[in-house]
Amino acid sequence: MKERNAKIQGKTVQLSPPYQGTHSRIVARENEMRKVLAAWMGRQSSQPLSPLLVGEPGVGKNRIVYECARLCDKELYIFQGHEDVTAEDLICSVRFSDDPGKKMDYIVSPLVTAMLRGGVCFIDEIAKIRPRALAPLASILDERRYVDSVLLGERIHAHRGFRFIAATNTDDLDETPLPEFIRSRMRPVIRVEYPERSEIDGIIRSHFEEMKADGSSLLDRFWELWTNNGINRPPTPRDSIYIFGYALNLADFESLRDRRPCNLESDSCESAPIEEKHLDKAFDVFRESTRRDNNVPSTHIHSSTKQ
Ligand SMILES: Nc1ncnc2c1ncn2[C@@H]1O[C@H](COP(=O)(O)OP(=O)(O)O)[C@@H](O)[C@H]1O
Ligand SMILES: [Mg+2]
Repeated sequence: MKERNAKIQGKTVQLSPPYQGTHSRIVARENEMRKVLAAWMGRQSSQPLSPLLVGEPGVGKNRIVYECARLCDKELYIFQGHEDVTAEDLICSVRFSDDPGKKMDYIVSPLVTAMLRGGVCFIDEIAKIRPRALAPLASILDERRYVDSVLLGERIHAHRGFRFIAATNTDDLDETPLPEFIRSRMRPVIRVEYPERSEIDGIIRSHFEEMKADGSSLLDRFWELWTNNGINRPPTPRDSIYIFGYALNLADFESLRDRRPCNLESDSCESAPIEEKHLDKAFDVFRESTRRDNNVPSTHIHSSTKQ
């Protein structure tokens, strides 16, 4: 980022850094992106809206936000929600300064940085934040478009280019619904569903160079494993990328003569071709970890795949 500092009524504050993703092309999701981009349109007479993405973990909520910010050519500032966030964390924090001439540095949050710079603020996992910590959003997300900072003792107005979006996992929202004052300001609610089979195939192909040209039989094997193992939901992009990524790692690892990785960080190891047996093993490991998540003892895991 060019400018690390900004001035608020004469006080110098440090800005949060933007997120710069380096991503391959997004697969599908045109409908969801159209809804987000339409919500962000702003005229004199109508305010931009602040959408809320809701979906299972790993379905691609973050990815949609990254792509929408990129399409608008806006800087993206991400605030990660969790239980310990306070209202002031959402705005500004202070720390002892490294500069001998100053006692304290003010560091403005990703939310306030986006407000100052006219970027996008994305609050991820918003339902994990306790309701009273969300209070500063009330004035930001309605026509006031400002926030009062206790630490700075100042009112901060949003640049007219500022846009807002948040996401939450479905389960978190069921457990702790968002307070009404936030729910009523977060519109539209956009459900992000599991991608279709052809979209998952597209995501795998675009993610892994090795799968681009010829991966059909491995993709067929993947769907066979998924269906035969009775997992009672479709795969998410995250599951699929994990399984194929681990299968590729297994292929590379097995190709080492002494089974000792030369240098884990470098590309000096030769890439080995991925085979069905690698996918089968990766799938076993995945299945075992999802069963553990659900507290089913590992002895109950029935292994039907080849070793
Ligand atoms: N439509 C898509 N096209 C390409 N990659 C995707 C797509 N959706 C998700 N992914 C990838 O799948 C993984 C999980 O997606 P993510 O956006 O983090 O899910 P969520 O935020 O819903 O938990 C990421 O690596 C992401 O880049
Ligand atoms: Mg996410």
